[in-house]
Amino acid sequence: MSPSDETISLLSPAKVNLFLRILGRRPDGYHELASLFQTIALCDTLHFNMSDVDLLTSTNLTLPTGPSNLIWKAIKIFREKTGIFFPVKVLLEKRIPLEAGLGGGSSNAATALWAMNRLAGMPATSTDLMKWSAEIGSDVPFFFSSGTAYCTGRGEKIASLNPLPNQKISIFKPLQGLSTPAVYQRLKVENLERRDPEAFLKRFVDNDPYYFNDLEVPAFELLTSLQQFKRSLERLGFDHVLLSGSGSAFFCIGEPVKNSPLSLVDAQFEYSAEFINRVDNDWY
Ligand code: C5P
Repeated sequence: MSPSDETISLLSPAKVNLFLRILGRRPDGYHELASLFQTIALCDTLHFNMSDVDLLTSTNLTLPTGPSNLIWKAIKIFREKTGIFFPVKVLLEKRIPLEAGLGGGSSNAATALWAMNRLAGMPATSTDLMKWSAEIGSDVPFFFSSGTAYCTGRGEKIASLNPLPNQKISIFKPLQGLSTPAVYQRLKVENLERRDPEAFLKRFVDNDPYYFNDLEVPAFELLTSLQQFKRSLERLGFDHVLLSGSGSAFFCIGEPVKNSPLSLVDAQFEYSAEFINRVDNDWY
């Protein structure tokens, strides 16, 4: 295929889990879950160019840019599935914190699949891309939804929903991050409350939301300072404060009370965002 000079620049949004219910451990080591995922306006940007050689660079120098990076896994899968090969140069402008439960790596992989497909002249449908992306990671297919989706299975079964009423959402992450497998390993499934996820989905659709995350307990056990971190956010007066995914970032819905001492929260990262959604046939 003939190389083009076109640069494709795409946003790669973070996600939060408005509720996250873990239903059980599976024989393959994954967990069966039911969760309401939402994309938010905290985004990385990926720039893609056809090139002479493959190259990935990141503005975050601590991020591995070798084959373990999910962007390379996405590019590899695109090449295998389509049989189309062209070298690419990728620049990743990283803003989403790592080890935060905000889905940054998964979002980058989904965005890379979308960008490769555009550079190649759209040989695949977004349904193809969503299906292929489950091979990269459990959270990747969600990013091909409308941006609001009820996700089940290990996270890869996606039911896109209409956008929810928009909300101001603030993200706070402490210095220490958390590893997703470590949090799942710590989880005691038998201790979880047997809540019916469909009832909670209905509450969100009916605009009577109830926020909860079954991974908070194991995350707090692994990183004991997190409980205190959550309390200090709650004291600021937000309506809801919840761990996002496997953490260690929290999202806060609503606004802090006026003149509240944000400096009392020992956050390494703070960001004010809102919900965002994707329209069909376009990226975020
Ligand atoms: O699918 P992904 O590679 O992103 O998952 C990372 C890790 O998170 C898995 O190896 C597993 O330990 C844990 N996980 C899980 N159940 C899920 C999703 C992830 O146990 N539904």
